Amino acid sequence: MKTHTLLMPLDMHLHLRDGVMLENIAPLTAFTYSGALIMPNLVPPVDTLAAVRSYKERIISAVPNDYFEPFMTLFYKNYDKAFLESVVDEITAIKLYPAGITTNSEGGVESFNIEEMRTTLEAMSDLEIPLCVHGETDGFVMDREAEFMSIYELLAQNFPNLKIVMEHITTKAAVDMLDKYPNLYATITVHHLLLTLDDVIGGMMMPHHFCKPIAKRPEDLDALLSVALEAHPKVMFGSDSAPHPQHKKESCGCAAGVFTAPISLQLLTEIFEQFDKLDNLQAFVSDNAQNIYGICPEFKEITLEKRPFVVPQNYSGVVPMYAGETIGWAIESVD
Ligand code: NCD
Ligand code: ZN
Repeated sequence: MKTHTLLMPLDMHLHLRDGVMLENIAPLTAFTYSGALIMPNLVPPVDTLAAVRSYKERIISAVPNDYFEPFMTLFYKNYDKAFLESVVDEITAIKLYPAGITTNSEGGVESFNIEEMRTTLEAMSDLEIPLCVHGETDGFVMDREAEFMSIYELLAQNFPNLKIVMEHITTKAAVDMLDKYPNLYATITVHHLLLTLDDVIGGMMMPHHFCKPIAKRPEDLDALLSVALEAHPKVMFGSDSAPHPQHKKESCGCAAGVFTAPISLQLLTEIFEQFDKLDNLQAFVSDNAQNIYGICPEFKEITLEKRPFVVPQNYSGVVPMYAGETIGWAIESVD
């Protein structure tokens, strides 16, 4: 039986929610990952030191062991430097959402006026707090990410010492930005390495493939694969696993978000094996993130086995991507 071992996998973009959902969902990631960058788009958003601390405590009490570290983020607002100095030791990044662009982003940034943001972004730069960005405009849905590239350029040029992470990139346009500015990085999800718009609405409409940003064209998928499979050093895995209750997905007005937490490592292994790039998966799923964020994860060793695995229909009322379908790899052991 063919196996593959990974050390300290990291998911650098994860939605864990809160309450019962958190208790049900967090253990799934904590089982196979050493740590994850936790998104702050709760209702209300995580935007105070007290909220960061108490959310972290709730996450830690939801996971059954000590071998998982939640790397906390703060919801971007135009914070002053004194506040940022008070939180810098307790967060790994700050996450910026354009207002209203995705789930629970209503309190985000209304307009990208660099002068209004300068104090905060310069303080983040001084304090070495990375800025993670949901990079979409309010334009036509297929063009939203490409249209955002000029904003990334503005941010990268004005704050050359600020680490800026283009979150969950879906386009060739974003891939092309990576080597243009030394301070731009990116996360890539597993579903965006598998899907195009055809898999969302090309046949029957597939609510469990629907997310923001929406999956794009075949040439975009190829561009994402090219940097992920080579484990480009400025690219890291971030699942953007975004659980919603089944009735919110299978409904008139489907919530955006693909739930992949329990199957993401298996799918990544399958993709990298198909392209004969398994040797690069360790860097994509852990080493690059350690270098970019300067983090040192808890030890964990995951062995995957090449055998058919039927994806469960749901996990505590949340339907995963590929529910009921057979994928090519399974988790064999976790140490
Ligand atoms: C995310 C969510 O549900 O919180 N949804 C999504 O489609 N990806 C928010 C986000 O990251 O955009
Ligand atoms: Zn997200």
